[in-house]
Amino acid sequence: MQIIRHPDEMTAWAKEQAKAGRRIGLVPTMGFFHEGHISLMRRAGQLADQVTVSLFVNPIQFGPQEDLAAYPRNFERDCAMADTAGVTALFAPDAAEMYPAGCSTTVAVGAELTGQLCGASRPSHFAGVATVVCKLFSIVRPDLAVFGEKDFQQLAVIRRMTADLNLGVEIVAHPIVREVDGLAMSSRNTYLAPQQREAALSLSRALALARKRATEGEHSAERLTTVLQDFIHSFPETAVDYISFVHQDSLQHVAEIDAQTVLALAVKIDGKVRLIDNGKVL
Ligand code: PAF
Repeated sequence: MQIIRHPDEMTAWAKEQAKAGRRIGLVPTMGFFHEGHISLMRRAGQLADQVTVSLFVNPIQFGPQEDLAAYPRNFERDCAMADTAGVTALFAPDAAEMYPAGCSTTVAVGAELTGQLCGASRPSHFAGVATVVCKLFSIVRPDLAVFGEKDFQQLAVIRRMTADLNLGVEIVAHPIVREVDGLAMSSRNTYLAPQQREAALSLSRALALARKRATEGEHSAERLTTVLQDFIHSFPETAVDYISFVHQDSLQHVAEIDAQTVLALAVKIDGKVRLIDNGKVL
């Protein structure tokens, strides 16, 4: 596996691959890999000839009070895991290379996709994500890019940006990978102490409860939200950020749920660790 630090070097490598007729599959990440990342890399490997993983903790997608400094990092371990997963190139630039002095362009996707759900409490987050992903697409020039469905709003934002800016990259969505007890895998799970880990199960269990009630015939988003709010708050130290039933593509709230509805959840554990999860309920 080749480790590439500089954007120009990355682009030169990508051009060589294109000249040789090899398709590049990109997996954009912020590192601290777990099985979820590995499954994205393997999926990219099934769909493309070369897998490039970007590893960059993107400062501009963190708000001023967020966990940029504390975000978990382990470069050596990440390299070993990516290598084992069959990655051919790992692109790990410095922030100064990605955002040199004078850099002043951002990509902002419209408020109908970025103003609600996570965007309501993280107002600059999706502009940070869209900007870095747009830059990664320009630098790596992938044929396709694989993103996890756990970050369901991010996926919708990236799809919109890719279409609106004619970026010509196929966006592949990969299902959420879960721990055996149902917790959606996330690098931020590492922040959870044992008791908080128990409370974190409130998200996947709330999804299961919503599925049960929906299958039994309860399709009112308002009534289901009340049930889920009480359920999540029955776990110690949980505070609901949002419980939203939205259309899978438009992300607009729905009053009655159907097969196109996604239940999106964000819960703060112990006032510190903010976790998200989502899924269909019908
Ligand atoms: O999902 C993530 O890890 C990040 O938001 C991404 C897409 C790598 C952009 O920094």
